[in-house]
Formats: sequence, structure tokens, C-alpha cells
Amino acid sequence: MEETRLLRLLFVTSLLSGSTHQASLKMSPDSSQLFKDKFVSLRCEEDGSSDGWTVTRNTTTRTRTQCGADWGRKAASSCTISYIVPRDSGVYWCESTEGAASTSINITVSGGAVILQSPVLPVMEGDDVTLTCTTKTSNLSADFYKDGSFIRTEPTGHMTIRHVSRSDEGLYKCHIREHGESPPSWITVTGKPATTTSPSAPCHPPVSVWSIVLAILCSLFPLVPLVLLVLQLRRLISRKPKGNYLPVSMEMAPPTQAEQGLDDEYDDVMAAVTTEHHL
Ligand SMILES: *[C@@H]1O[C@H](CO)[C@@H](O)[C@H](O)[C@H]1NC(C)=O
Ligand SMILES: *[C@@H]1O[C@H](CO)[C@@H](O)[C@H](O)[C@H]1NC(C)=O
Repeated sequence: MEETRLLRLLFVTSLLSGSTHQASLKMSPDSSQLFKDKFVSLRCEEDGSSDGWTVTRNTTTRTRTQCGADWGRKAASSCTISYIVPRDSGVYWCESTEGAASTSINITVSGGAVILQSPVLPVMEGDDVTLTCTTKTSNLSADFYKDGSFIRTEPTGHMTIRHVSRSDEGLYKCHIREHGESPPSWITVTGKPATTTSPSAPCHPPVSVWSIVLAILCSLFPLVPLVLLVLQLRRLISRKPKGNYLPVSMEMAPPTQAEQGLDDEYDDVMAAVTTEHHL
């Protein structure tokens, strides 16, 4: 079955080549808000390798500048900023040499006294998410707000939202008495899709017509010879005069003139049936 193996190979290859265009930007520390002067590391991660990706950003003053040009220190697909400052605030993403882009993250650098720590990547629907309101030195009792409305006060400064849904999406901020207010941050919620890109699960295919067609072909292909065989047998059996083929015996009458016209295939089938009878 060379064709089957070839098709399966093509199918797997199409999955792999589809997913090599998916990179994600990871950030350490994993917080969309930072105090100024922090050390920050950003890296582009891709299934298997991460070559050819560069961390790129838009800030309020400049758009689409790459790490290593006039900001950050570039090493392969990573980028570090030793002392981040408020004007580094902006949108960051990974861009490949071919122009492909990862999803972007928002980073806010605060020169103030309070920040709200929230995940940089979108939160998955159904998951729990914890937001932390903190000063430079400690977590104190904090008030949390969503879209300008007070939610609740948390004595430890941590607010966990359980089983996140789309309605939790919004602009969050927090306030610590006698210290001040954090900048706002967007929390984005994404559905639990069949198309998430997870490095450890190559079975999440990028959905394309090509991969769907190949998937169908691959699953049907082993059936083709069987279907052909069944069709062939049916054709032969229906051409054969009734009654002669069921009891396979040596007392078969010599072929009549009409039967003489039957082709070799008939003899082949009879030979096969006879062989089976003997087994
Ligand atoms: C960055 O800025 C450019 C130019 O304004 C814009 O076209 C692009 O969409 C921005 N990228 C992101 C990820 O916001
Ligand atoms: C970044 O922030 C802007 C508003 O400031 C918001 O519209 C956008 O959705 C945010 N992007 C992400 C990835 O959170």
C-alpha cells in the first residue's frame, strides 16, 4: 500500500508545516503590568524550533521596531530588557522573516506605586484566573474594578475569577488605599477551540481545506481495494447462472456453450472459492 503511506506522510507533513507558522510570545515575568526598572525577558516559541522570529513592538512613539535595533538586547529569538521604563509600554509580538506574526501582548510599565498583575496571554474560557494587586514591596488589601465598576475588596490583594467566561472580558484595575491606583489592563477570554496551538499536541491541526481533504482521503483509502473487490465479486456472481456456484463440488456438469463464454475471471473466482473450501 505505497499510496496509503504516501498520503499519510503528506497529511502529517501538511499538519507540521501548517503549525510551524504558529509562534507564541512568552514573557518572564508573566505579567502584563510591571514596575519600571524591572528585568524582562521575551522569547518567541514555536513547535520544535524558534529560529527566524524576532520580537517586535509598537509603542506610542514608534511602530514596528524590532528588538536589537534601538531597544532590547537580541539573542536568537529572545529579547531582554534590563531596565524597563514606562516608554517601553506597548504592544509586543513575534514576527518571522517571512512576515508571519504571533498573537500580540500588551505590556504596561508603571512608574507609579501600584500595579495589577494579570496573565499576558488570553485566558481560556472555563479556566480560573488570578489577578494580583501589589505595591513594590507587598500585597495589601486591594479594591478591584472592572470597566470602571467596583467588584470587591480582597484582603490579600489576590482576586481569583473562577470558570472564566466571555462576560469576564474587560478592562481591569485595582486600588490600594494610601498607595494609589494601578494602570488598567485588558483581560481577553478565548473560547476552548479545537484549534489551539499547543507545542506538545501536534494533533491540533491548523484548519485548512487541504488538510481536511487529506484527512478524508487518508481515512478512506484503505477501504478502496476492499470496495473494488466487493464490486468485482458482485459483478461476477451476478453474471453467473444461478445454482451452480453455491455447492462447490467435483460433480459439476461440463460447461455448456453459453457458459464457455465466461471469461477467465470467473474461473479465478471459482478457483478462489474452491481453495477456500479446502482450507
Ligand atoms: C503596529 O502599528 C502598525 C502601524 O500603526 C499597525 O499597522 C499594526 O497593526 C500595529 N500592530 C499591532 C499588533 O498592534
Ligand atoms: C491591548 O490593549 C488594547 C487597548 O489598550 C486592547 O484593545 C487590545 O485588545 C489589547 N490587546 C491584548 C492582546 O490584550
